[in-house]
Formats: sequence, structure tokens, C-alpha cells
Amino acid sequence: MPASSRPKDLVYDPTDPSVMADPFPVYARLREEDPVHWSPSLKSWIVTRYTDVRDLLLSDTLSVNRLLQFYQSLPPADALLLKDIVRYLNLWLAFRDPPDHTRVRRIMRHAFTADAIAEMRPRIEDISDLLLDRLAAAGTKDVDLIKEYALQLPAFVIMDLLDVPRDMLDDFKDWSDDMAVFIGGARNSEDKYERAARGCRNMSTYFRKLIEERTAHPKPGFLMDLINARDEGDKLSDDELVATCILVLFAGHETTTNLIGNATLLLLRNPDELSKLRADPDLIDTTIEEVLRFDGPTNALVRVVAKDHDFHGRKLREGERVFVMVNSANRDPQMFDDADSFDITRKQNRHLTFGQGIHLCLGAKLAREEGRIAIRKLFDRFPDLALDAENPPEWLDAMVPRGTRRLPVKLEG
Ligand code: HEM
Repeated sequence: MPASSRPKDLVYDPTDPSVMADPFPVYARLREEDPVHWSPSLKSWIVTRYTDVRDLLLSDTLSVNRLLQFYQSLPPADALLLKDIVRYLNLWLAFRDPPDHTRVRRIMRHAFTADAIAEMRPRIEDISDLLLDRLAAAGTKDVDLIKEYALQLPAFVIMDLLDVPRDMLDDFKDWSDDMAVFIGGARNSEDKYERAARGCRNMSTYFRKLIEERTAHPKPGFLMDLINARDEGDKLSDDELVATCILVLFAGHETTTNLIGNATLLLLRNPDELSKLRADPDLIDTTIEEVLRFDGPTNALVRVVAKDHDFHGRKLREGERVFVMVNSANRDPQMFDDADSFDITRKQNRHLTFGQGIHLCLGAKLAREEGRIAIRKLFDRFPDLALDAENPPEWLDAMVPRGTRRLPVKLEG
């Protein structure tokens, strides 16, 4: 690695609590001093400038398929344990390169239609009202907004979308927490592979049965559209259908929780912006876009180098890992005026939070709708909502997602 040309005191340590709370100062230095940075501790490249992040996401020099290499490096006992989870994850759109990706995405687009998303709007409103009613009825002033609202809202939305009864929430939460120890975003634990395998087994068994039942007894909705989706006669195989349901659950859940959490935190920390939103509720669209840019749920995206190539004078070698730092790109002053100020009226806002290129998020419309409804209703219902001054937010100890694990708030003044 070109360590000699690396500024010696420039270390990016995502596990440092001060970096977790505010990674933006180190991103600014990386963009300025070492935009294609080799991190010896992460054994990965860290790319931080807007144009580089965008160009890399658009290029075919990087691959999303990082599972195979990892799987092949495992001791046989672990590989056996993870056989099933890897079988499904290998079928995830998010981990496939063209031409497989092109084929599956073409089919999936028939289910992710504007109509399917529009149909979800009244349900999002209902879910938001239901959760806020519960909060108001509980009569407690101090709550963790993540646990009581931001986590449940997107979970219920995705469960409704996939036709999973809402009383399955606790099971789904357990299974997805189990799987998350493998997929990333959660802390490591000793029995992480056992947990991941168990979570995947439970989740895939559930979806396989549900798909069989829906196929036998059709019922209109997104799941049925997914089962029926055809592109030039081609359709998803049974395993691809199960894998896709698990992907949609994962892709659409924690990300949106973090959007709602980060939006609440930013508005409470920026009372002038909150006042502007209160004075003009139509600003909710640009508010959500600004949250997505300023401190959005996509901290980084992960890729592996598909073939050796030079990038800004650095030699990227096949198989090396690259963290494409979306949240840093979104603060690049070369791209955004006054990039470090949170401005809910910002007009030019081409943030990269939903990705770029062939893997661009399929659920962006739904996520935006959820964010707008969740925030509008929350601040309408609890006009005196405030941060709990004695209990600061706790940030996720993770490099890819960006959000708070706990967000203690006071519902009333
Ligand atoms: C604020 C919430 C969300 C954010 C920030 C977000 C972000 C992203 C990003 C950055 C990607 C690209 C990943 C990559 O290039 O490696 C992606 C892909 C994807 N997202 Fe989202 N997402 C959100 C919500 C959702 C929702 C609600 C759904 C589903 C209902 C969803 C479904 C997907 C799917 C299926 C993909 C894979 C697309 C592909 O690989 O072609 N996302 N998302």
C-alpha cells in the first residue's frame, strides 16, 4: 500500500466514540488530504469525495459480490453453518453483479411500481397514528423514540407490504436481529454464526410457507405482484422469491428507522429549521431530502475491487475492499454550497443516499413517503417534543448504517 504518501496523523477509526457521534471532521480531512485512503486497521480503501463516490458506484471496476470470497475463507465448520444464509444472500439483488443483477432487477421492477407505493400511503398514515396514539395513551413523558416509534413504523410498513401479520413483529425482530449479526450493522457476538443461521432458517421457512399459501390462494398486493412478476416470460425462482422477501425486509427496515431517528434529532438540534417547517409544512419534502443529505442512513456502501486498476494514482487490486463513503460525499463543498449547514430549504440537493447506478434503491419512494408522514405527524402530535438533556443519543456502533440506537426524548415540556 502507498503508506508513504499517506498523511501520518490521518487515521479513520469508526469505532472511536467521538467519530461515531460526529464523523464529519475526519471525513473533511480525508476529502482534503487523502481522498483515496488506505486504512491499515480496516484493511480497506476509504473513498470520500463526491465525484469519486459517484463515479465508483457507476463503474464496473468494483463489484457488490463480496460474499464468495468471504465464504471461501471460512473454516469448514463455519462454512457448513452458514451454507443456507449464503445461499440466500447470493440471490440478493444487492449482492449480484450483471448479468444476474440485470435480470432479477428487471423482474422486480414489475412489483415496485408507483401504484404499489401509493397504495401504502394510507397505511403509513394509520400506522403512524396508531403508534402516536399508543405513546400518548401510555402517559409517560420520557421515551426512547427509536424503540417506541422509529423502529416500529417501518417494520409495520414492510410487514404490511409483504403481507406478514403485525402480531409477528417480535418474531421478525428476533429473526432479523439474528441475521443482522452476519449481514453487518450489529455488534459481533461469540455465537454470531449460529445466530445468523437460526435467523435465516426461521425467516426463510416463514416466507416459503407464505409464498406457497399466496400462490394457492391469490390476494392482490405487493407480494402477489412479486410472485407474478414476469419479464419476457422470465420470473423469480422459488429461492429468489424467498431471498427477495428477506432482502426487502432488511433493505427497507433499519434504513428507514434511521431516517426517522436522524430527522427527529436534526430538527430538535436545529430549532430555527424546525420553526421554518412549522411555519410552512410544505417544506417537509425538502426537509427529508436535507436530512438524507446532511446525516442520512447510508454512511457507507461496501464494494470489492473486481479487477486491478489505478484510481487517482492508487493501485486498487482485485479482491480488496472499498468503503464508498456516501455521507462524506454528501458534505463535499465541491458539490454543495455551505455543505456543513443543515438547511431545510436547500434547492440543489443531489445527495447519494439512495446510491447511484444499477443498484439505486428500489424503495426510495416508499422511504421518502414514510419519512415525511412520520415526521409531520410526530411534531404535530407532540409540539413540545424535546431532547432529553440528561440522556444523550447513543449512536450505532457500525460503519455502514448511520443512526442512533437510542434517542431519548421528552414528549411534553
Ligand atoms: C431511508 C431509507 C432507505 C435508504 C437510505 C436506502 C438506501 C439504499 C441504497 C444506498 C441502496 C444501494 C445499495 C448499494 O448500492 O450497494 C439501496 C438498495 C436497495 N433498496 Fe433501499 N434504502 C432505503 C429504503 C428502502 C426501502 C423502504 C426498500 C423496500 C421497500 C428498499 C429496497 C431496496 C432494494 C430492494 C435495494 C437493492 C437494489 C439493487 O441492488 O438493485 N430500500 N437502498
